[in-house]
Amino acid sequence: MKQLKKLSSIHFCLLFLFIHSNTIASQSIFRTPARPTIAVIGTGYVGLVTGAGLAEFKNNVICADIDTKKISALQQGIIPIYEPGLKELVDHNVQAGRLIFSNDVAGAIKKSNIVMIAVGTPTASDGSADLSYVQSVVHTIAQNINGYKVICTKSTVPIGTGAMIRQLLEQQGVDADMFTIISNPEFLREGSAVHDFLQPDRLVIGSESEQGSSMMRTIYQLVIDNGVPFVDTNVSTSETIKYASNAFLAAKLSFINEIANICDATGADVHIVARAMGLDKRISPEFLKPGPGFGGSCFPKDSQALLNMGKHLKVNLPMVQASLDTNDAQKKKPAQKLLALFNNDIAGKKIAILGVAFKANTDDVRETPALATIQLLQEHGAIIKAYDPVAMEQMKILAPDIIYCQSLEDAVTNADAIILMTEWHEFKTMNLEKVAQLVKNRCIVDARNILDALELKRLGFVFDNIGRSYLAQ
Ligand code: UGA
Repeated sequence: MKQLKKLSSIHFCLLFLFIHSNTIASQSIFRTPARPTIAVIGTGYVGLVTGAGLAEFKNNVICADIDTKKISALQQGIIPIYEPGLKELVDHNVQAGRLIFSNDVAGAIKKSNIVMIAVGTPTASDGSADLSYVQSVVHTIAQNINGYKVICTKSTVPIGTGAMIRQLLEQQGVDADMFTIISNPEFLREGSAVHDFLQPDRLVIGSESEQGSSMMRTIYQLVIDNGVPFVDTNVSTSETIKYASNAFLAAKLSFINEIANICDATGADVHIVARAMGLDKRISPEFLKPGPGFGGSCFPKDSQALLNMGKHLKVNLPMVQASLDTNDAQKKKPAQKLLALFNNDIAGKKIAILGVAFKANTDDVRETPALATIQLLQEHGAIIKAYDPVAMEQMKILAPDIIYCQSLEDAVTNADAIILMTEWHEFKTMNLEKVAQLVKNRCIVDARNILDALELKRLGFVFDNIGRSYLAQ
């Protein structure tokens, strides 16, 4: 603690020198100019949560994006994504005068001490991460750099991106002394991103220089003071930590899903297996919930990108490959289980899909297991009716040819079977007696193991789940 306090005073001296050594126009736009100004470039899910979170840590933040529609919505207090608690966080910090939105990316760079790159890194056709948006931001930095800047990657970027940014800037004539490169990966889960940002498990900062690292410590001072473990390392180690963490969590999920399948074949109960495994501190109980396979924009994409890096570096990563293969197979499980309950004959049957988001508390449908389920059912001639509390508009883009229902009741009415895909609270607490009255046929696959098996049995449902099939016997 003593050491932390000593470090803090050094940071504040550095911060003072840093801010006053720059000709920064931020004094005119923020109420408390004696704080660093951070430009967060990209107002997607990562950029927006990061910008609002850093403002909550009492920093001055400009969230900038070239998307004028998004910025004008944000300026009117409209949050373009569904993320619990984010609107409150944004509103609070806008009102406190620490957070502003702008589509003038060049201006934001000029006004800032720290530039955080939080633009998208989608998967390119060869499975690698497409860095064109990152490169475009670097180009804008090169054209607008007007003083010493800390340039920090926040998006998940391939190992070596920090070095590439340095090279790009120098190639564009920016003096090497004008900037330092930092990697500060995010570990935010969609649906609980605000909590994850404000109360992280750890803070990872990879830097090229002590000055850059000190600046970063300054903007996270409140978190560090709360005792959050802080990993201070070099840029490529930090970049690797992000990929290693996501690939490990993905592998943990594929592992428990494989064990769930063994449980179904043997009559064991995966929940009890997972609980007992998790009591071993070396394993931990987190990320041991079996389900329909992992989705979202991170685990599938980052595992694929890591494999791609391995290929280029001639390093084999068979475990990472296996976790993706297991996941692809797992995504088909809910539909396969339903097919088994119908002796493979579901042609013309109406199947209600409850939940299309890749997990609860988000409207994100990227890589959602619901899509694989729907496609397999459609291949067998089923008619799909779907309901999700928030993700249907997004899903209409991926699956335009299914029936979208306005409510849970609409979806299950006259259904021949139900597959519960997403663990929304609304589904956990649904009135099964009422559902039993509305369906044509009492048959359900609970791909999240959230329904009460005894109650299902009592109501005469034929059912299955993931790794607890014995309950249906
Ligand atoms: C994940 C990581 O958890 C974050 O730490 C990371 O920052 C983020 O990726 C990222 O790289 O940006 P996210 O994809 O939002 O976050 O969601 P998770 O809560 O991790 O869930 C991922 C998938 O695993 C979902 O499909 C979820 O349903 C599934 N899951 C999760 C399970 O099936 N069982 C579990 O026990 C946990």
